[in-house]
Amino acid sequence: MGKMIIVASGKGGTGKTTFTSQIGMWLSSLGYLTVLVDADAGFRNLDIALGLESSVVYDYSDFMSGTSDLDDILTKSHNSENLYFIAAPQSAKTSDFDTERVKLFWDSVKSRFDFVIADAPAGMGDGFMFAAEFADEAIIVSLAETPSLRDADRVIENLENKGIETIRLVLNRVNPEQIASRVQINVDDCIDVLSIPILGIVPEDIKVAESAAKGISVTPDIQGAGQAFLNIARRLAGKSIPMMEFRRPSRKSIWSRMRKSLNKSQ
Ligand SMILES: Nc1ncnc2c1ncn2[C@@H]1O[C@H](COP(=O)(O)OP(=O)(O)OP(=O)(O)O)[C@@H](O)[C@H]1O
Ligand SMILES: [Mg+2]
Repeated sequence: MGKMIIVASGKGGTGKTTFTSQIGMWLSSLGYLTVLVDADAGFRNLDIALGLESSVVYDYSDFMSGTSDLDDILTKSHNSENLYFIAAPQSAKTSDFDTERVKLFWDSVKSRFDFVIADAPAGMGDGFMFAAEFADEAIIVSLAETPSLRDADRVIENLENKGIETIRLVLNRVNPEQIASRVQINVDDCIDVLSIPILGIVPEDIKVAESAAKGISVTPDIQGAGQAFLNIARRLAGKSIPMMEFRRPSRKSIWSRMRKSLNKSQ
């Protein structure tokens, strides 16, 4: 029986879909049979992050109505062996599905895959409930900013009330310069505020959007998001990988960059 993990957040746009796609690609390349489920019915875009938008034929509303079985609704990744995707319906509401059929759906995917990762919509609406009721574990993706942390806290409380014991935090788009200038909150304070274990810290990285547009994994390089995603996938697979340390650029390099831009504008 595989493990079902919900990826959730309080605020929108924290990077859940990006995270889910990247972690799925890495888990599958580490040899784990992985399926990613888009739980964001109506506003689905995990298919795009995986480069599968033109390959999807059926979605899980076809399974719920009984017209398709699990094999029909699975879309295989073009780039990663071991990686599959199940699309969300664009119109159907997940709260209208028959509860027994929803249970059968999650039981069936869990019995076929090592990892089942559900990309939830922000907040605690229908799509969140659809996945949260059946999740074994949760990952909260938050920015290192007060509004994002505050809303994450409410989602954590909801998941705890459902009896989910393993709830871990991913801080995304962390930027050492913004921490230094107090635009972002430092990592230790974020962990203290939410009081859940940290699973990973992902830096702000321009390569994330570039890779997402191509539906490929971000190339791992030192202190980059690609390495952070790979580290997180390894941790999910039970490996003990130290947290990435972010070095703030030295004052010298900040000054030399400022001088360069001043010279340019002169
Ligand atoms: N580490 C990162 N560095 C730079 N950009 C990032 C990073 N993570 C995500 N992004 C960008 O942030 C934006 C939002 O990401 P994404 O769509 O994954 O968020 P989401 O939490 O799924 O949003 P929603 O709540 O609407 O479902 C995207 O443009 C994505 O490329
Ligand atoms: Mg999303």
